[in-house]
Amino acid sequence: MLNHSFSINEKGHLTLSGVDTVELATEYGTPLYVLDENDIRNNCRQFKDAFQKYYEGNAKVYYASKAFSCLEMYRIANDEGICADVVSGGELYTALAAGFPAERIGFHGNNKTPDELAFAIDSKVGNIIVDNITELELLNEIAKEKGVCQKILLRIKPGIDCHTHDYIKTGQIDCKFGFALENGEAFEAVASACKLSNVELIGIHCHIGSQIFETQPFADAADIMIAFAKNIEQSLNKTLSEINFGGGYGIKYLETDKPVPKDESIRILCEEVKIACTKYGFSLPNISIEPGRSIVGDANLTLYKIGNVKTIKDIRTYVSVDGGMSDNPRYALYQAEYEAVVANKAKEERDFVCTIAGKCCESGDLIQEHAKIQTPEAGDTLAVLATGAYNYSMASNYNRIPRPAAVMVRDGNARVIIKRETYEDLINKDV
Ligand code: LLP
Repeated sequence: MLNHSFSINEKGHLTLSGVDTVELATEYGTPLYVLDENDIRNNCRQFKDAFQKYYEGNAKVYYASKAFSCLEMYRIANDEGICADVVSGGELYTALAAGFPAERIGFHGNNKTPDELAFAIDSKVGNIIVDNITELELLNEIAKEKGVCQKILLRIKPGIDCHTHDYIKTGQIDCKFGFALENGEAFEAVASACKLSNVELIGIHCHIGSQIFETQPFADAADIMIAFAKNIEQSLNKTLSEINFGGGYGIKYLETDKPVPKDESIRILCEEVKIACTKYGFSLPNISIEPGRSIVGDANLTLYKIGNVKTIKDIRTYVSVDGGMSDNPRYALYQAEYEAVVANKAKEERDFVCTIAGKCCESGDLIQEHAKIQTPEAGDTLAVLATGAYNYSMASNYNRIPRPAAVMVRDGNARVIIKRETYEDLINKDV
C-alpha cells in the first residue's frame, strides 16, 4: 500500500502505525483525520539528515505549517529541531502558543496586514519574507516606530514554470507572489531594501510550486537564485547570506505516483547550489527549504462512514460519506487524486468503481471520481489515504458541518490532538 505505515490486520481491517482504523472510527467517530507521528518525525529527519550528508554550509528545514497547523504539530516540529514557516497571524499565534521558538520562525504572506507585521516584529520572529514594495516600506516604518531592525528575505519569482496544477504553481511571472526576476523588479527591490535602515536584507527566497515530481525545476532554481545573488554582490556590493528554496516536494497519492525520494531531492539541490557557486564565484550560502506536504502528507488518512450507495443505471454509482469538501476540498479545487479503501474490508479486492461523494449541498462536493474500492455498503468505514496535508488546514464549516477531530497514532496507540467541533462551537461567535 501507498506507505509502509499502512497495513492490514488479522481481522482484515486497515491499520495505520499498528492501530486498527475501524476501531478508531468507532471510538472517536467520523469523519476523523488520523496522522502517523512516526512518519511525520521520520520525514523531518530525512530532510535534516540529507542536508548533513550533502551540504558543507549551513542548511535549515522550515516546516511549511499551512499544510497542517495545530499546537501538537508545532510541538513535534520543535522537538525535531526544525524551523517553521507561518503565513498569517493565526499560524504565528498557534506556533507561539505551542512554545515554538520565535527565532526559528519565518513569516510569509503576499498581503500581510500592518497588524500581522507588528505582531511578527513584537514576537521577534527570525525573519520576514517580504513579498512586495508596499510591504517593504510598511515593514520598515513599523520597525522604525518600534526602534528595531528586522531581518528579511525577499520573495523572488525565478521564472520557472513547473508541471503541476495551475493553482499551485508559483514560480512564473504571472503569479501573485513576490518580485519577478526577468523584468528587473527583483533587482530594484533588493536595491530599495538595502537603502532602508530598519530592515536588514539577509537573503532571497523562491517557491516554484507544490506537488512537483521533477528535479529539474529545483536545479534550475538553484542556478537562477545563485546567479542573482552574485549579480547583487557585484552590482550592489551586498552579499546575501541566505537562500531559501521553498517547498513543493511531491508525495505519493496514487500507487502509480513516483515521487523523488527526499534524500535524492536534497542531494540534487545541494549539488546544484555547489555547482552554481563555483560557476558564478559565489561563497556557499546558508540554504533553507520549506516542505509542507512532504512532511505531513503521506502516512495519514481520513476515516468516513459510508451512508447511501446510489447507483444510477448506465451512469455511475455515488457512494456518499459523512464528510466531504468541508473536510477535504482538494478534489473540488484541483481534481486531486486519492486512493480509498473500505477499511473494514481491506483484504477484499478493490474492484468496485464509484464516485465518492460528500454530504454538502453541492454537486461538485466529491472526494473522488472513478475510485476503485471494495464493494461498499451503508455502515462501512471508508479510508481516504494520504490526506495529512491541506485537508484539515483547508477545512471549513460549509453547511454548518463541524470540523472533524484529528488523532495521532504511534506504535499501536492513539491520542486526540484536535477535538471534534460541536454544534455549540458553530454558534459560538454568532451574536
Ligand atoms: N513555501 C511557500 C512559500 C509556499 O507557498 C508553500 C505552499 C510551501 C512552502 C509548501 O509547499 P509544499 O511543500 O507543501 O508543496 N493547497 C494546495 C497547496 C498549496 C501550496 C501553497 N504553498 C494543495 O492542496 O495542493
